[in-house]
Amino acid sequence: MRLSTIGCGYLGAVHAACMAELGHEVIGLDVDQGKVDKLARGESPFHEPGFPEVLARNVESGRLRFTTDPTEIADCQIHFIGVGTPQMQGRYAADMTYVDAAIETVLTHAHPQGERPVLIAGKSTVPVGTAERIAGRCAASGKDIAVAWNPEFLREGFAVQDTLHPDRIVYGLPEDREVGAQLRDILDECYAQLLSEDIPRLLTNYPTAELVKVAANSFLATKISFINAMAELCDATGADVTKLAEAIGHDDRIGKKFLRAGIGFGGGCLPKDIRAFMARAGELGVDQALTFLREVDAINLRRRETAVDMAADLFGGRLVGRKVAVLGAAFKPDSDDLRDSPALDIATRLWARGADVVITDPAAGDALRRARPDLHVVDTVEQAVKNADVVMVLTEWKHFTELDPEEMRPRVREAHIIDGRNVLDPKAWQQAGWHYQGMGRGVST
Ligand code: UGA
Repeated sequence: MRLSTIGCGYLGAVHAACMAELGHEVIGLDVDQGKVDKLARGESPFHEPGFPEVLARNVESGRLRFTTDPTEIADCQIHFIGVGTPQMQGRYAADMTYVDAAIETVLTHAHPQGERPVLIAGKSTVPVGTAERIAGRCAASGKDIAVAWNPEFLREGFAVQDTLHPDRIVYGLPEDREVGAQLRDILDECYAQLLSEDIPRLLTNYPTAELVKVAANSFLATKISFINAMAELCDATGADVTKLAEAIGHDDRIGKKFLRAGIGFGGGCLPKDIRAFMARAGELGVDQALTFLREVDAINLRRRETAVDMAADLFGGRLVGRKVAVLGAAFKPDSDDLRDSPALDIATRLWARGADVVITDPAAGDALRRARPDLHVVDTVEQAVKNADVVMVLTEWKHFTELDPEEMRPRVREAHIIDGRNVLDPKAWQQAGWHYQGMGRGVST
């Protein structure tokens, strides 16, 4: 099949490359010439394990191309919409400018021919009601272009694996059964290889498909804030949240995953998705249904301030003149994504309180230097911790979790370690002479 992906960021570029990996001919369209040039050379614009190989292989085979020229998408059967829906400045709602522009691009340049309609398959996370609105716009265009909502559930760091081996595939289809069946068949043809692996495929209407995505992300965010709320209780009582999470996680109904307490969630998805969901619920007159998400957000943001206070409390509440080594800037390991990163937010807050902050990250260093020239960014842990008064592990890169406390000890001025992700072995650090503090771990000696 000939496919296009509109938007070549994280979601779009990975989707495009993975569809080419399935044997399709794919054109990735983006307005950013620099990004397109890079991708067209087979170079990844972001850090994502496994992606550079899939990208290079498919660019080389000629199945995968990238362009800024929208006329090149003319004869594609499916146009996947993978543009961003960021939080609007100063508001909770999602900014739909890029989605709307992508739809207009398809409507202008797609040329349906033959029996089957051309399909717009939405992958971006959107407010419920968007697919219906876009379908109306397509109908008004007079072209034989139809809409399906096909949400994406990939995680950064596992993007290729999640795209090629998803937990489930969801099609949100129009109410008209005949058209719905046609669109289902087009998507089935596209995903034939995945479906042959018995991956569950759920057929539903537009609003359900849109809600599945935001409901999933809201549930994940709630799980994290729940365990972080328990961490607050643990800190007040001397309990250990890591043991608590393990113990409750043995109950299958609760499950062990996404119960890692720490400095909370960030990134380009969970924080803005729960806020956009609340905004949309307000528009629909059912805001009360989601007031709990306000609390989820509040608990999450409180973790960041808690981490800053923990550092300040070591020095009688004053950080001025104290050197803080921040290990990690990305919102999670195996990523160079700094969007709404708890690590970066904490670094900024420490700096604002007068600390001398030195920050390092194995992948996000260059992005960080570009985004935040005001911060002192270094390349290595050794440079970051030199003469530090406190070391904070804020992104759980393997590189940091495997640090040797014995070897680190003589490099710092004062041996305080704050484990913002609860990934270090408290005993090992204490035995090497460090004062260890986790997040809700009941250990502070
Ligand atoms: C998230 C969802 O997990 C994906 O399923 C979804 O497709 C994606 O958003 C999206 O909407 O596109 P992602 O943002 O890549 O994926 O990252 P997650 O693995 O969900 O982690 C999000 C944040 O939660 C990170 O900052 C991570 O450190 C934090 N986290 C995660 C915790 O603090 N504790 C946990 O137990 C798990």
